[in-house]
Amino acid sequence: MSQPIPQPPGLPLLGNVKDIDPSNTWWSLKKLSEKYGEIFQIKVLGKTLVFVAGAALAEELCDEKRFRKFVGGPIVEIRYAVHDSLFTAFDDEASWGVHHRIIAPKLSTSALADHFIEMRDITNELMEQWKGLGADNKIAPLGDLNRLNLEITTYTLFGKRLNNLTGPAHPALKGMEDATSEAIKRPTRPSFLNWLFYGGKFKSATKTLRAFGAEVVQYRKDNPTDRRDMLDALLTAKDPETGKSLTESQVIDEIVTMPIGSSTAPCLLATAILLLLQNPEVVTKAREELDAVIGDGEFKYEHLSQLKYIEGIMRESLRLSFAAPGFNIEPIPNKDDKSPVLLGGGKYQIAHNQAVIIVLAGVNRDPEVFDEPLAFRPERMMGESFDRLPAGVKKWFGNGKRECIGKHWAVQFNMVVLAKMIKDVDFEAVNPDYKLVQDGWFNVRPIDFYAKVKPRAV
Ligand code: HEM
Repeated sequence: MSQPIPQPPGLPLLGNVKDIDPSNTWWSLKKLSEKYGEIFQIKVLGKTLVFVAGAALAEELCDEKRFRKFVGGPIVEIRYAVHDSLFTAFDDEASWGVHHRIIAPKLSTSALADHFIEMRDITNELMEQWKGLGADNKIAPLGDLNRLNLEITTYTLFGKRLNNLTGPAHPALKGMEDATSEAIKRPTRPSFLNWLFYGGKFKSATKTLRAFGAEVVQYRKDNPTDRRDMLDALLTAKDPETGKSLTESQVIDEIVTMPIGSSTAPCLLATAILLLLQNPEVVTKAREELDAVIGDGEFKYEHLSQLKYIEGIMRESLRLSFAAPGFNIEPIPNKDDKSPVLLGGGKYQIAHNQAVIIVLAGVNRDPEVFDEPLAFRPERMMGESFDRLPAGVKKWFGNGKRECIGKHWAVQFNMVVLAKMIKDVDFEAVNPDYKLVQDGWFNVRPIDFYAKVKPRAV
């Protein structure tokens, strides 16, 4: 016999509206996962939403023979800006395969090796900027890393420098914030309110983002090059299976999608700075590794695979930041079988068409898997210790066919930036008592976290 899925008490008619803050949904879900454990549900306006926050159930939901990505709610809303792009395409939309086969080779590890020097040198520009700030500075790591990420994404993938590490922030950064926040909030409001009061904001953010995409395309047309980067593939490649190529509007869809995807990396890195400040012994060990592997010489691509402790820091930061806070799954529809779907060997059951949201704040810190789950221990993310962890707690990049296509780019970018930050500069907390509080939309980031930065003490 299955047991009921736990649910907070809620209000008559309104259900659990008070359990979710629409301005900080993921923080509410993190708190609910801490209270209810591996699975819980809420009812809002008569609709049931199910959440999985335990590693074993998450792993079960990642079985692609039974489940697939659910494209609903905010993901459908953001289609207003990017249509049937990789992230937003429905499972059965043929365009997904065409786009995937054209784009994936440009995000493979071998293609990315060619972009290492670009990533390193632009990161170096930020390090030099930080080193020159003088004694009494205060930086918002997330703001600076967001700029770095947009700069490196736009240059490595589309060949255009924005020169946006200083000066007014590039409008695409606000465009992404406005479009993704609106996409998350829209499903929580009646449609006429969305249309009446919020349509303008969504429209203007979309216009900004698509203007950015169009500008990147125009720049390439005005500056022909022999770069064989992602933009080249988007504009010229044919899908090897269907022979189809992308229309200019589809090219812009993907140019806009990539920085929205990659904007998760600065959230991770800003949280990593906080975790490092709270764990100075980790910085000491990391520097021993960096000094042994890179020393005083030039930082080269070949060093990356030797930086095992930095990799441990990156993975442990992915785990504890849950920078991509979750992903949505649904049972694969079967027109002949509408019986409930069993989870956990029959412990729970959900309707045949019930979407489930995986809450990584719970999964990544599951006490059934990690002893002292809140402790920051890069060692558990290295070598055999990492290999022994169950697959369910390694889903930072999503799952299966719809796993993050930018995973290798993100890993390389995070490794380069972490290595440079730890090797080159010292951070100091502005508020030593700061405790991580997050907000965010398609990704989550530290709120009001500031640091001082100076050249690494000799
Ligand atoms: C630390 C950095 C990153 C994390 C943690 C992350 C996480 C994720 C996750 C969890 C998904 C699955 C979403 C779902 O199932 O609905 C995803 C998908 C995706 N990500 Fe990332 N991501 C990161 C960086 C990037 C970067 C750098 C790019 C682009 C260069 C990118 C582009 C995408 C795209 C296009 C998809 C949709 C793939 C598809 O459905 O075919 N992401 N990412």
